Amino acid sequence: MIAFASRTGNIRYIVSRLQLPAVEIEEGRTLSEPYLLFTYTDGLGEVPQQVKRFMERNGRYCRGVIVSGNSNFGHQVFGGAGDAIARQWQVPLVRKIDMRGFADDYEAIQHYYEQCFRKEPVR
Ligand SMILES: Cc1cc2nc3c(=O)[nH]c(=O)nc-3n(C[C@H](O)[C@H](O)[C@H](O)COP(=O)(O)O)c2cc1C
Repeated sequence: MIAFASRTGNIRYIVSRLQLPAVEIEEGRTLSEPYLLFTYTDGLGEVPQQVKRFMERNGRYCRGVIVSGNSNFGHQVFGGAGDAIARQWQVPLVRKIDMRGFADDYEAIQHYYEQCFRKEPVR
């Protein structure tokens, strides 16, 4: 499962290309299974407020964070939301993506997702 927040549509676009199970973060949403968080970056390298609130509810099920930012903001704050989440919640930063990213970004996400949520074979 991917839980995503998208304000201007970049992440929504990426998620639509991935063909992985995904839910959009909404106020009060509670998840009861592990997921990867996919967030944009706000302010100057900040975690969006709605994502902060989501993590307060659901942080314990987060297995990694993917972040989209805009590298024009400068390397100090590019994708800073991903760095902040990874640090605070002690989860891997799976991928930092510039805007809508490229095919290799999508492949990296797909690969991590499969590794992370691969079902063990039934014996
Ligand atoms: C007000 C505002 C502040 C932003 N601040 C940052 C920032 O500090 N660092 C960064 O990498 N991107 C920043 N961005 C860029 C977005 O994170 C980036 O465009 C992202 O792809 C948006 O995803 P979305 O279209 O799914 O909402 C900012 C965008 C806006 C509108």
